[in-house]
Amino acid sequence: MIALTLAEAAAAVGGTLDGADPQAVVTGTVVVDSRQVQPGGLFVAVVGEQVDGHDYAAKAVGAGAVAVLASRPVGVPAILVDDVVAALGRLARAVVERATGTAVVALTGSSGKTSTKDLIAQVLQRRGETVYPPGNLNNEIGHPMTALRVEPATRHLVLEMGARHKGDIEYLTGITPPSIAIVLNVGTAHLGEFGSKEGIAEAKGEIVEALGADGVAVLNADDPLVRAMETRTKGRVVLFGESRDAHVRAADVRLDDTGRPSFTLITPAGSAPVNLRLYGEHHVSNALAAAAVAVELGMPVDDTAEALSEAGALSRWRMEVVDRADGVTVVNDAYNANPDSMRAALRALVSMAGRGPERRRTFAVLGEMRELGGDSLDEHDAIGRLAVRLDVTKLVAVGGREAACMELGARNEGSWGEESVLVSDADAAIELLRSQLQPGDVVLVKASRSAGLEKVAEALLADGAAQ
Ligand SMILES: Nc1ncnc2c1ncn2[C@@H]1O[C@H](COP(=O)(O)OP(=O)(O)OP(=O)(O)O)[C@@H](O)[C@H]1O
Ligand SMILES: [Mg+2]
Repeated sequence: MIALTLAEAAAAVGGTLDGADPQAVVTGTVVVDSRQVQPGGLFVAVVGEQVDGHDYAAKAVGAGAVAVLASRPVGVPAILVDDVVAALGRLARAVVERATGTAVVALTGSSGKTSTKDLIAQVLQRRGETVYPPGNLNNEIGHPMTALRVEPATRHLVLEMGARHKGDIEYLTGITPPSIAIVLNVGTAHLGEFGSKEGIAEAKGEIVEALGADGVAVLNADDPLVRAMETRTKGRVVLFGESRDAHVRAADVRLDDTGRPSFTLITPAGSAPVNLRLYGEHHVSNALAAAAVAVELGMPVDDTAEALSEAGALSRWRMEVVDRADGVTVVNDAYNANPDSMRAALRALVSMAGRGPERRRTFAVLGEMRELGGDSLDEHDAIGRLAVRLDVTKLVAVGGREAACMELGARNEGSWGEESVLVSDADAAIELLRSQLQPGDVVLVKASRSAGLEKVAEALLADGAAQ
């Protein structure tokens, strides 16, 4: 982190020092887990559901922490505040403000935030030191903790911002005011909470409202609700997508026979070929968003295209593709699901099967999509129908009422009972797949996180390893 004295840190968070030397300097990392404390670090005492960080204050200082950020005296040097989580946000803001050479890149969207964050980070790393969170660390604690990792030499800070409620993104942009803000798409994730897609757009657009006049809003030209956000920002607008008027576009999009997209990246600064290592056409849009950021920061188009082509999937369970020794391919996309990502994953599945007489059989093992509110049953029905329309060999719907709706959708679309089956849980799905899979089949596993379908993918891969 950027070094601060305890006096500076206390002033930044509006706290008071308790038994601490105001001139002592925090040089190391800020942590919430006392086992991760390093000399020169700051320990943040968070009160969790199971443990109270204050109980570990003495241990943290024993391990070398300069002080503890706490909400009550802990018998060791501390910065005392009323609200530790809010103070953590203010401390992060103070560090980011001092990092004048760091471009803060913030992105939101209904689907693809983590994937695109990982793409942007891998591209920008070529340009200079880049700080970004691992996986999905984007809540009110993980977000400031990531920002606090910024060093004087950090050139980019890349952050994913999710919105469960109105005001969530405004809070996060208050901690890390972005210089570049990206909106990927407005879909139906968390529709239950927001009531309508317009309500979701209202919340996501807070990210571009946080830009100053010298900021840049990177918006998806193909999504009308995202494009409409151009009126909500003081920043300059850069559009990406397939639309003709997009500044950063893809031409000649093709999928290879394993489902990986290639395209020509077209930008105001020139064009270059991109061959993604990620699976599914939806990543073209994510890659264009990443390219728009890189080009905006002055990265040459050739370098940008090369970096995109080398980028891998950094976060787990998102279209993780593994080939078993017997030729069965398992696509583990069990991290999460909403209607848009379900559609994208189904399309990727069928493209991975190839075409013609050599076409591989495809199994879509799909569980419930949560938090969809009143549209939930219709959305599940629509996914079942899409599976049939895309000619997926077999839909295995896993779970209760929502899964039943998905399977019924498939049957109503004309699956004649052979192309779809309903099973009650992950174990039943595993049993069914074990009896039906043949060498060469491709299996997609996907559902909302809480459905726990990664268990199915793991069991299939363990079967493969045992062969
Ligand atoms: N542009 C996109 N459009 C539709 N689906 C996508 C897109 N990008 C990624 N996905 C799919 O969405 C799912 C979630 O991807 P990812 O974790 O990157 O999204 P996220 O927005 O970070 O999700 P969360 O809200 O859970 O943090 C994956 O199944 C992925 O394959
Ligand atoms: Mg995410």
